[in-house]
Amino acid sequence: MTNDTMQGLSRTHYCTEVSASDIGKTVTVAGFVQKNRDKGSLVFIDLRDRTGIIQLVFDDSSPGELRKKGAGVRAEYVLMAKGAVRERASKNPELATGGIEILVEDLRILSRAETPPFEITDETGVREDLRLKHRYLDLRRSEMQKTLMLRHKIVKQTRDFFDRGGFLEVETPILIKSTPEGARDYLVPSRVHPGSFYALPQSPQLFKQLLMLSGYDRYMQIAKCFRDEDLRADRQPEFTQIDVEMSFVNEEDVMAVNEAFVAELFDKVLGVKIPTPLPRLSYQEAMTRYGSDKPDTRFDLSIIDLTDTLRGFGFGVFSSAIEGGGSVRAINAKGAAEILSRKEIDKLTAVVKTYRAGGLAFLRLTGENESSSYEKFLTDGEKAALRKAVNAQEGDVVLIVADAKDSTVLTSLGALRLELAGRLGLIKPGTWDLLWVVDFPLFEYDEEEDCYSAMHHPFTSPKLEDVDKLESNPAACRARAYDIILNGVELGGGSIRINDPVLQQRMFAALGLDEETQRERFGFLLEAFKYGVPPHGGIAYGLDRLVMLMAGKASIRDVIAFPKVQNASDLMAGCPAAVPEKYLDELRIAVKPEA
Ligand code: AMO
Repeated sequence: MTNDTMQGLSRTHYCTEVSASDIGKTVTVAGFVQKNRDKGSLVFIDLRDRTGIIQLVFDDSSPGELRKKGAGVRAEYVLMAKGAVRERASKNPELATGGIEILVEDLRILSRAETPPFEITDETGVREDLRLKHRYLDLRRSEMQKTLMLRHKIVKQTRDFFDRGGFLEVETPILIKSTPEGARDYLVPSRVHPGSFYALPQSPQLFKQLLMLSGYDRYMQIAKCFRDEDLRADRQPEFTQIDVEMSFVNEEDVMAVNEAFVAELFDKVLGVKIPTPLPRLSYQEAMTRYGSDKPDTRFDLSIIDLTDTLRGFGFGVFSSAIEGGGSVRAINAKGAAEILSRKEIDKLTAVVKTYRAGGLAFLRLTGENESSSYEKFLTDGEKAALRKAVNAQEGDVVLIVADAKDSTVLTSLGALRLELAGRLGLIKPGTWDLLWVVDFPLFEYDEEEDCYSAMHHPFTSPKLEDVDKLESNPAACRARAYDIILNGVELGGGSIRINDPVLQQRMFAALGLDEETQRERFGFLLEAFKYGVPPHGGIAYGLDRLVMLMAGKASIRDVIAFPKVQNASDLMAGCPAAVPEKYLDELRIAVKPEA
């Protein structure tokens, strides 16, 4: 059975553009069959396009052949239909077009469809892997279509904002020499230079800096980035950045432009007013209060330092942590005793253990009863001092972590905070908490490799007052870097860059790169830096994360048209995949057997 053609018909309206004001007019619509109902003398088809649904109808005034054709269509057939708009006998208030229907005069079946592996509705309980295997069908769901339209709007608004501000969009290359941003590179072998490889950009970092050196002054790009790293709900191997760079600026200038950007974006896209200037937290404060450098400040549950209070107390778990140079810190879950039973506290212990904490001490105050994990080990006076330090009252549950490593205490309590907020329902829906985290350390110490690595990237400038400590005390150097956090998610990050070739070389040296490695990896940058470099700085946002949050989704996979799954594969096309031997021969590549 061949399909009909569109000959003689052309679409006049999207489905939901047809309205009551068109009653009596003849219109032509096109789309996919959502469902059809054959009631004998009456046949209905719900026709769906990207705007929504309209009802087509055939009744006893319709020619029999035509009505039969309408009754014969099946879900997901592609149709074009022409007919007169009329008022519906029984209205559907759920639909934008629920008061009208089209009495079909001409119906074309443009493409037939097999029964899809899942129904195209928003109430899908379908497994994500099945949806991703047939992503082209999943993308037909109105929820996905709305999300991708929102993404388009965000990108358009972004381009408009930066265009108005004099930022030029410049495309930077995809086949590049490796730019380290802390992840592994995806490599592309060269046929012309066998044994040599391009890397896919982890970000356009060096190119945007070179554009500043070339005098472009203000740059932005909606840029594809590639990172071979372990995937999570907010990470993909290929993702998109809103990438920005500016010349002759300091931190305040970059932050001011970006506050104006996010405020305008939220206002125009969601109608949400974001008060500016945004609050700022130092890295130190963020870590000590919230146990995270991307704190979720939509709820309090701040971390309380008990180290000084508990010093010298007779409980080994506390004293050995303190004597070992670590700390004891706590969270007071106010009024949570009802919800946090002993059993629940055991579950929370498992959470902190995944962050390497040895365990979770607790104090639970219910009515007259005080139960705690240190009951037998502290004197009454010590217990009272602890209670006072955390301001514990009836109904509270205090959760305590002690460890000889302060960072373990902080990060495990940071994770516990988030878990508690979920369990206690502390996050008010519709809250938008944006803030800057500033004063980051320049380096972080990599214990496995026994060396320092850049906390942001090697092109980030140290604070001027810390430059002298670059060689003598790298751990004490702070960076001219800033991250922007939204609801506990790192939305973006940036910095003022090094623009002095000597300082850049000192930075490379502090990261353990000898002169030869510097020349080999960054020779072009150091060479370029000889010819005049304006002071410059910028930022990059994760566009997918921004859309995820603005669309209220839990994963960036939900806002990317064709995402990869956890093991970085594309379930739909089936990639990565083997390639014919001949291609490998051309590249002079041999695949080693598994060791
Ligand atoms: P950074 O590495 O912090 O900085 O990246 C900036 C932002 O990009 C997003 N992001 C990701 N999103 C999805 N999947 C990933 N795998 C992923 N990795 C990062 C995050 C992050 O905040 N060149 C610097 C920016 C600069 O200094 O101007 C950079 O790339 O939202």
